[in-house]
Amino acid sequence: MNALKAQSHHTLQKETMTEATNHFSRNPANTIVMGIETSCDETAVAIVDEKKTILAHSLLSQIDDHNEYGGVVPEIAARQHISNLDHLIRRTLQDSSLSIDDLDAIAATTGPGLVGGLMVGVMTAKAIAAASGKPFVAVNHLEGHALTARLVEDIEFPYLLLLMSGGHCQLLAAHGVGQYQRLGSTIDDAAGEAFDKTAKLLGLGYPGGPAVEAAARSGNPERFNLPTPMVGRPDCDFSFSGLKTAVRRIAEACVTERGMLYADDRNDICAAFQQAMALCIEDRLQNAIALFRKTAGNRTMPLVVAGGVAANQYLRSRIKTTAANNNMTFHAPPLELCTDNGAMIAWAGLERFSLNPEINDKDMAPRPRWPLDSEAKPKVGSGRKGPKV
Ligand code: KG4
Ligand code: ZN
Repeated sequence: MNALKAQSHHTLQKETMTEATNHFSRNPANTIVMGIETSCDETAVAIVDEKKTILAHSLLSQIDDHNEYGGVVPEIAARQHISNLDHLIRRTLQDSSLSIDDLDAIAATTGPGLVGGLMVGVMTAKAIAAASGKPFVAVNHLEGHALTARLVEDIEFPYLLLLMSGGHCQLLAAHGVGQYQRLGSTIDDAAGEAFDKTAKLLGLGYPGGPAVEAAARSGNPERFNLPTPMVGRPDCDFSFSGLKTAVRRIAEACVTERGMLYADDRNDICAAFQQAMALCIEDRLQNAIALFRKTAGNRTMPLVVAGGVAANQYLRSRIKTTAANNNMTFHAPPLELCTDNGAMIAWAGLERFSLNPEINDKDMAPRPRWPLDSEAKPKVGSGRKGPKV
């Protein structure tokens, strides 16, 4: 962890930010919300306003701290959030030339996620809110992803949402803030999880998504045949665990044949993996579009992709084509707003606060599991603390 890394992420701001920071006039009619994200391995803070300006944005990634373990270690993550959150908040306020008094609400990711990290963000946000007499807004991390496209563009409800992150893979009809209907979801691994496990199997490190994408760029997708689970089924669910098993089998066969896994083997496996993933997503999406149209009608509708996997350029372009072929407009946040960040939490908090200025979630505790659609039945097991998938 170092300040330099924070600085480099910190520069990943919307281009409008510098200007907005310099010329920001404190308009009492302009709602301003701070958002805190600590649900996984990124400590992030941002301040956004209702004019859709990211006034300041800081992010500290813990990738180096978890890399050697091949995944996120919850205790390490929580400890790093504790060490870093205070100074990120201070710096974000400084960068925006605002003080806590200028904020209308403090939002924090309250679930789903790793409970230790969630507690750090939620307790900090509640303490700031209580001390300054501002409301605390509890934000569902998935809703943060779901609404990010509206921070970047003027997209009206309803829209079809494909949410693909490290912990989730879902197709949802977004009818309004807090109103989501799940059309399909993964019955085993999430899309990002499949990328991460494939990368781990191939020795490509963590997080796997960007590494697999980079390797696939110089690979031949036709050399290996990978399965496309669920394709052809009438529903909108996903399954990715079979892909991971097939990747292991192929990698083992390469080692047996050539004595080791060469770079070209890795690249070809990654290219085949991404292609299989795209085929699954296209097929599932096609069914979801048909289902969505039953209630939303046949006019041109928005298709929004969100979550870390939506940063994948290859998948983005395949999904964009599917959208165009189905009379849907395609919307994806810029890459740095696809993966976890503070702006998505600030914006979701702002959307919720704007709809209900009396809101104050100060009595809400962190929720390791928190489905976006509270009505949905779990696909796999229910668990003591609510649906897992
Ligand atoms: O949304 P996110 O930052 O965190 C969660 O809410 O889970 O998503 C992280 C996931 C990781 O599994 C990571 O490997 C994946 O997003 N990811 C990618 C890419 N960038 C991040 N997957 C595929 N291609 C990418 N370029
Ligand atoms: Zn996320």
